[in-house]
Amino acid sequence: MENTNWQQFPFDKFFNVIKSYVENTPKQGVVAFEEPAELREHFDMTLPDLGRSHDEVVKDLEAYLEHARNTLHPTFANQLYAAPLPIAFIGDAVAAMGNSTMATYEAAPIGTLLERALIHNLGKYIGWDRTEGVMVTGGSNANFSGLLLARNTRFPETRRFGNGNTRFSVFVSEEAHYSFFKALNQLGIGTDNLIPVPSDSQGRMRASELDRLIKAAKERGFTPMCVAATAGTTVLGAFDPLDEIADVCKQHNLWLHVDAAWGGGTLLSTKHKAKLKGIERADSVTWDTHKMLGTGLVSSFILTPHIGSLLASQRGGGNNYLFHDGQENTLDLGPMSLQCGRRVDALKVWLSWRLMGDKGWNDLIDTLYSRAQWMAREIKKRPDLQLLYEPESLNVCFRYLPKRHYLANTAVRPIRDDLIKRGDAMINWSSRTGESFLRFIVVHPGADEKVLGKILDDVIAAGQRWEASHA
Ligand SMILES: Cc1ncc(COP(=O)(O)O)c(C=O)c1O
Repeated sequence: MENTNWQQFPFDKFFNVIKSYVENTPKQGVVAFEEPAELREHFDMTLPDLGRSHDEVVKDLEAYLEHARNTLHPTFANQLYAAPLPIAFIGDAVAAMGNSTMATYEAAPIGTLLERALIHNLGKYIGWDRTEGVMVTGGSNANFSGLLLARNTRFPETRRFGNGNTRFSVFVSEEAHYSFFKALNQLGIGTDNLIPVPSDSQGRMRASELDRLIKAAKERGFTPMCVAATAGTTVLGAFDPLDEIADVCKQHNLWLHVDAAWGGGTLLSTKHKAKLKGIERADSVTWDTHKMLGTGLVSSFILTPHIGSLLASQRGGGNNYLFHDGQENTLDLGPMSLQCGRRVDALKVWLSWRLMGDKGWNDLIDTLYSRAQWMAREIKKRPDLQLLYEPESLNVCFRYLPKRHYLANTAVRPIRDDLIKRGDAMINWSSRTGESFLRFIVVHPGADEKVLGKILDDVIAAGQRWEASHA
């Protein structure tokens, strides 16, 4: 039983591992690359019959960190998030220690009030006076929740009886996140009924095309259920024209969901928030604060200005042991959630907000935006590089330009792999309209101009190595 005892646990030994990992991060690369077979060979994954000593498990923790991707390193630019704020780590660790469930107010009184306060505050930034919402397990599930909410609110009979013979269709831009595809599967609507709306050259949904496709779907006997616009697309970081899309939704009386998982943080910047103009007209919004605001995976919200709708859509069950005969405390968030047991994710977001304040967020977002602009200008100055899109937010899409230009697409993947294998940087890649490119996300607070400039040099060096090997 000794290993179950909190008071006797040698926390210092484990915290020292974290401390030295953080301290050594600048010296270490972002990646210690190994093929899966090598990783299996180098890392002892066996689950022992007899428990090991604390000192041995300290070594296990060190080994884990040695082989893990280091998102604290400023050259990690692979995802729409990087190093979390240190205070978010503290909040997450304390939430894990507290081990409360957010199902009921009685189990997590302060967690419940904090989550409600955050929901109200995020809603305020969207432009709503009152907001209902709940934290979910990621932007994908927030998008699913938004579509479920749309269907159950507009077609309440579906909650009990399912979709019946109604052939619903949902409209998203062709740049939208793949979670909508998954959501249509989950909702029994069918993935074929997700209608991709063409986007313009910058990756923004064309509102006129949306109107045309809604009319066409109606003519073919479909029931349009919802339009899901994106504020900050995954690959290009583009913002759909929300006001124009809201006009089309109004004309057709359609629910408007806005996926602001990525771009939502922009609302905290006085300078850049106009990019999301029209978001206040949305019926539901997805917002991941773990992305631009760095509050740590996972901090995701589904939000709506229609008070009571989320509860009406999601409630049901658990009365015999949790919500007690349907007499749930009106503060309980559980009935609005897809989950039963749920972590106190609100703590890390709330502590982060306390430390940053509105002003801190504003400055962080402005800094990240100006770095992305700086990086784009630097790319344009360097003849060996090609900028594919002017960044609308923090996604900088560019590539190495070989002397034989027609090899530009081919070179992208090997250059990226080379950077990872050498531990120089971790950058994702993508393609659009037949062109491949590196997708660099300027979200790491430590990636200043010096770091970004060095990464551009490293991309050029990797490109030259690739070219030399393909002479
Ligand atoms: C626009 C957008 N929406 C939703 C998601 C899904 O978010 P999550 O990874 O939290 O499920 C992403 C992820 O990158 C995204 O880019």
